[in-house]
Amino acid sequence: MVRFSLSRQTIDSSLPVLARAKGYYWHALHRPKVLDACGGAGVACIGHGSEDVARAVLAQMKTCSYVSYAHFQMLRSGEPKGPRDGMGSKGSTFVWTGQPQRVNVIARWESYHGTTLGSLSASGHVVRRGPFEPMLAPTFHKIPACNPYRQRLTDECDADFVARKAAELEAEFERLGPDTVAAVILEPVVGAALGCAPSVPGYLQAVKAVCEKHGALLIFDEVIRSRWQQESVVPDLQTIAKGFTGGYQPASALLVGAKIVEVMERGGRTFTRGQTYQNHPVVAATALKVQEIIQGGDLLANVRVQGQLLEKLLRAKLGGHPNVGDIRGRGLFWGVEFVEDEAAKQPFDPSMQVAQRVHRAAVRDFQVLVYHGQGCAGGCKGDHIMIMPAYDISSRLVVDIVQRVASAVDDVFGTKC
Ligand SMILES: Cc1ncc(COP(=O)(O)O)c(C=O)c1O
Repeated sequence: MVRFSLSRQTIDSSLPVLARAKGYYWHALHRPKVLDACGGAGVACIGHGSEDVARAVLAQMKTCSYVSYAHFQMLRSGEPKGPRDGMGSKGSTFVWTGQPQRVNVIARWESYHGTTLGSLSASGHVVRRGPFEPMLAPTFHKIPACNPYRQRLTDECDADFVARKAAELEAEFERLGPDTVAAVILEPVVGAALGCAPSVPGYLQAVKAVCEKHGALLIFDEVIRSRWQQESVVPDLQTIAKGFTGGYQPASALLVGAKIVEVMERGGRTFTRGQTYQNHPVVAATALKVQEIIQGGDLLANVRVQGQLLEKLLRAKLGGHPNVGDIRGRGLFWGVEFVEDEAAKQPFDPSMQVAQRVHRAAVRDFQVLVYHGQGCAGGCKGDHIMIMPAYDISSRLVVDIVQRVASAVDDVFGTKC
């Protein structure tokens, strides 16, 4: 039995005790069921408790429950078109191509890539970096995120905004020395750190052009979206996780682009790693079944349809709210940023914990679970919630989610949407 988490690291005895989760609902002891509008942390993309996945997991456990990566070769099905698949970690491409001086990585503020020392070094999420700051690697550098809500100048069109952002990146390459930069890493749609902020049209193309000009790799961190090949720009490396297994097993994978594969194949290289559980067969069977369910049910088509409905309803219900500064997202991945003063885009004092209060009211009084975060206005300031329901959610439940979330927002701000 676990308690629903209200503030990530605390055990709060006022939290409901979770008994089980099934479909789109969390079932707590002695409480009404809670509608899952965020897949936990953007994970449960096919809902909870799938019998099909459970069967696939069990079957794999009976066939082969574990194998060390080094002892057998992997069997592939089909040739991937974009970045290649591989469950594991990064390699040393620049050492193999005689460029060992490429040690710098350019990342962005208001980004989140994880909480290992490496991934946190890349992360620009100040709230999460804070406690570890002295231990983080100095070879990771930050440029501003792509956040039109807070950065776009009055009357600045997409093309001019993108040109300004590309110039920022170019300047960082020049500052570091272009041939010292190994890679640029970014989330095409920023998740936890910015609350579902998509890149402005043309931005990813511009970033890729700067990377190519200087011979650096482009890495997309798609851990939280894990919707493959949705961007028109193909990166050199792409991370995926959460929706990869939908939470039925903890798993991540790295998709490796042709440019890197060619270098490896030419030199007969392999990635040097040696994690005990990499390429785990039960995890692989889980991912395969979850992806079969997503593809077999054409769930990405549903994501597009329900995503449009979610956007429309969020804008209709919350667009005019005096404390809603921005509503942004793509597909079934939407964020709502709260502000104290809408005209000035003034964030709330972080100590008010506004996003957490919306989250708390939502789960406690309106039985809907949303994901909350702080820091989207820079530093520790800025409050947002994220709505990321399962890919197979129905229109009826999308309507229900928005109604419940709007009620929670009303409740916290004392308004009537
Ligand atoms: C974009 C992104 N990258 C990396 C991570 C880290 O993933 P994990 O918590 O599985 O280490 C997250 C987690 O939310 C994420 O959203």
